[in-house]
Amino acid sequence: MTLLHRLTGAPPGMPPRALMLRCSAIGALLAGTAGAFAAAGGWLSPAALTPARIVDRFERVNGPHPGFRRNHAKGLCVAGEFAGNGAGAALSKAGVFAAGRTTPVEGRVALAGGQPYAADAATTVRSLALRFRLPNREEWRTGMNALPVFPVRTPEAFYEQLLAGKPDPATGKPDPDRMKAFFAAYPESAKAAGLIKARTITAGFADSTFRSLNAFRFVAADGRATPVRWALIPERPAMQESASQAARTDKNYLFDDLIAQLRQEPRSWHLVVTIGQSGDATADATLPWPADRESLDVGTLTLTGATPEEAGNCRDVNFDPLVLPDGIAPSDDPLLSARSAAYARSFARRAGEATRPSAVAATADRGDAR
Ligand code: HEM
Repeated sequence: MTLLHRLTGAPPGMPPRALMLRCSAIGALLAGTAGAFAAAGGWLSPAALTPARIVDRFERVNGPHPGFRRNHAKGLCVAGEFAGNGAGAALSKAGVFAAGRTTPVEGRVALAGGQPYAADAATTVRSLALRFRLPNREEWRTGMNALPVFPVRTPEAFYEQLLAGKPDPATGKPDPDRMKAFFAAYPESAKAAGLIKARTITAGFADSTFRSLNAFRFVAADGRATPVRWALIPERPAMQESASQAARTDKNYLFDDLIAQLRQEPRSWHLVVTIGQSGDATADATLPWPADRESLDVGTLTLTGATPEEAGNCRDVNFDPLVLPDGIAPSDDPLLSARSAAYARSFARRAGEATRPSAVAATADRGDAR
């Protein structure tokens, strides 16, 4: 498999001409999303926020970690499949929702933050990113966090929060005055922080609920569009983190537990889609939707194995939230194009750098992920 095959996610046998077409399509997509971000953020002004400035700020806050993602740097590859139950087909024409359709999925569990060798900690935000491989070479890529809401509403707030939240070397915690000034400037983030602090922290990745947080639109075969957010809800009841777990000193305990659990048996989550009504915020990921909104279980994700990150697996994937199949479309949330453009910049930098092995690889044995 060549580097181009890996970067574009093309199957190993794809001939050179088809590969070049795929490259230009991805190039056009990235240029398009970066262009949209540039326009939204006022690219041409010298003080404008650009994808490069966001990624520079991650590097300034976390220090240099060549070859690693600039955020969610510590991770593990997972694999499995998604079985649609047909309930989603009325809302979205995406083939992944057809009754009885099984779609292969590869993904990555990770911890938020730009430190690839940080010790696992219960309060660090957990994430699950997935790449569904649909027939006819379509893909659905989604990155979800185990949070009730996202801490910021705009790319500018994200950029400011990165610096405001930087731990002070003396205390290991963010400077309270800086955080106070940040919350005063972005009151919606102060409210979101309250919801995030009050969340239940479960025992590990396997019983975490992962949410899209951003809104999207499902588009039906007749063209009808429905605002949605989605969540992966674990099939088994969630366990709250115990005191003995919290006291563990194994630096990779969350990842090691998942590897051990998947070695015993597959783990499943229900993909539950919440349907927004008119007036529900689609451009503000800090705001929860009312709890009584209709939700629909559209199928089951089953993860069967885990593999340490290395060349050619989930390490070399950009889980760009705007890689969507026909039948799922972006909402007006300004974070979406900002994410797409920043992920592309982070990906371009890390793909060009020599890397060290993932921290998780050091303790994990080789799982059975495909
Ligand atoms: C402006 C807002 C945001 C920025 C600038 C940002 C930035 C980033 C960057 C630079 C990466 C590393 C990408 C790579 O190298 O592949 C990343 C990863 C990730 N982000 Fe965001 N992010 C934002 C908002 C969000 C939101 C709203 C979510 C919602 C759930 C999210 C979930 C994730 C996940 C799950 C990953 C890890 C993907 C993986 O495992 O490869 N991010 N983010």
